[in-house]
Amino acid sequence: MAGEKTVETTGLLGWIDRRFPLTSLFKEHMSEYYAPKNFNFWYFFGSLALLVLVIQVVTGIFLVMNYKPDGELAFDSVEYIMREVPWGWLIRYMHSTGASMFFVVVYLHMLRGLFYGSYRKPRELVWIFGVAIFLALMAEAFMGYLLPWGQMSYWGAQVIVNLFSAIPFIGPELAIWIRGDYVVSDATLNRFFALHVIAVPLVLIGLVVAHIIALHEVGSNNPDGVEIKDGPKDAKGHPVDGIPFHPYYSVHDIVGVAGFLIVFAAIVFFAPEMGGYFLEFNNFIPADPLKTPPHIAPVWYFTPFYSMLRAITADFTWILAGASVLAAIILFAKGKPSGIGRIIVFLVLIGLAVAFRIFDAKFWGVVVMGGAVVLLGFLPWLDTSPVKSIRYRPTWHKFLYAIFIVNFLMLGYLGTQPPSPVFNLLSQIGTVIYLGFFFLMPVWSCLGKFKPVPERITFKAH
Ligand code: HEM
Repeated sequence: MAGEKTVETTGLLGWIDRRFPLTSLFKEHMSEYYAPKNFNFWYFFGSLALLVLVIQVVTGIFLVMNYKPDGELAFDSVEYIMREVPWGWLIRYMHSTGASMFFVVVYLHMLRGLFYGSYRKPRELVWIFGVAIFLALMAEAFMGYLLPWGQMSYWGAQVIVNLFSAIPFIGPELAIWIRGDYVVSDATLNRFFALHVIAVPLVLIGLVVAHIIALHEVGSNNPDGVEIKDGPKDAKGHPVDGIPFHPYYSVHDIVGVAGFLIVFAAIVFFAPEMGGYFLEFNNFIPADPLKTPPHIAPVWYFTPFYSMLRAITADFTWILAGASVLAAIILFAKGKPSGIGRIIVFLVLIGLAVAFRIFDAKFWGVVVMGGAVVLLGFLPWLDTSPVKSIRYRPTWHKFLYAIFIVNFLMLGYLGTQPPSPVFNLLSQIGTVIYLGFFFLMPVWSCLGKFKPVPERITFKAH
């Protein structure tokens, strides 16, 4: 029976099992973890994210053997790795490509969650751990990017750390505390190195373990969004719509791994810079604190959020203030929430409208940028749809998802470009669409004609 402690009694495994629950752990998480039998392409990305995590840790360990976290030596030590260390170029390109591919995989993994409502009850914690992983991953990538000590490393860090100085009252002191200096310097490099190499990876690995434990507690969702645990069970109590993860999905995932490794190797060997998107050209110039590059752009995976940061100009805070006042009036007129809560919500929204105009636009840019990520954590409660999977939602919901995706890609592109009046306007529209998608989700997600959800998962053997 699943959950029952199994102990081997003979041989080496027996010796281990009497001291450590190896067999029962393997059964619980692999050979007796029943996963829905209708997993599709989108279900490759969880195991691929695990693969990239391992690639990053292993290549990272080898990089650290020759890298020097010192403002005078860092850039040259990376060049030394590239030119002199046997296979150093391969290790370095695997690590830099791995960083971008981590985000490709994780973005697709999150998109799958969005499509199939995998964040809904009972998987809220799986999702929240996921959002925390995403935040940790962003911190990890940001600090790692400083280490080669190129122009983009230096000025990118300068721009992002300076953002903290926009926080009212404590901002300037906070920015100095983060840098350990008045500008990005050797002290910053040293602390970012410590955080990138040990602190954040530990947090990341801990969160990934929590993510998978939480998932295995409630069971995987699937493209139909139907709970297999609620369906019929066999004589042993296993859901008939489920199959043991091992060997079925452990073998199935090898297909995904093979496909991924082909793409990964093609990039590492033929296009490691990826036209300046994976490794920016300016980063092959050593950091120069006296020479600001004309155009500073973060790496592509940050650019959708960077666009939102740049979108919040002083003029735009009028729109945010107007939206708050409008929301206050609508909610008050509709009597929502009822009682004293109504007055509190009204006052908070009006207060927010005033604050939008009092505090610096740069501060609100930081709030919107951070909020755009944190907002994802509230998805389980923002979505009020009666069905989980996109398959059974009204067709126009699919168009909304398509707009959301195209908009996110547009924001990503705009973030790589130097600012211009047209691009700024587009970023502002894009930011409104991004925020509107989530803030209005409680309203739109339950509207329309939903298709009937089958009792059991739909599955065609191939
Ligand atoms: C290092 C990064 C990550 C790793 C290694 C990882 C790993 C995994 C694995 C192995 C699974 C089970 C296989 C699968 O369903 O694909 C999974 C499921 C899941 N992950 Fe992640 N994950 C990561 C990041 C994230 C992020 C950033 C989110 C969302 C914000 C997320 C949300 C989910 C959800 C909702 C599920 C359940 C999917 C379902 O049952 O349909 N994960 N993850």
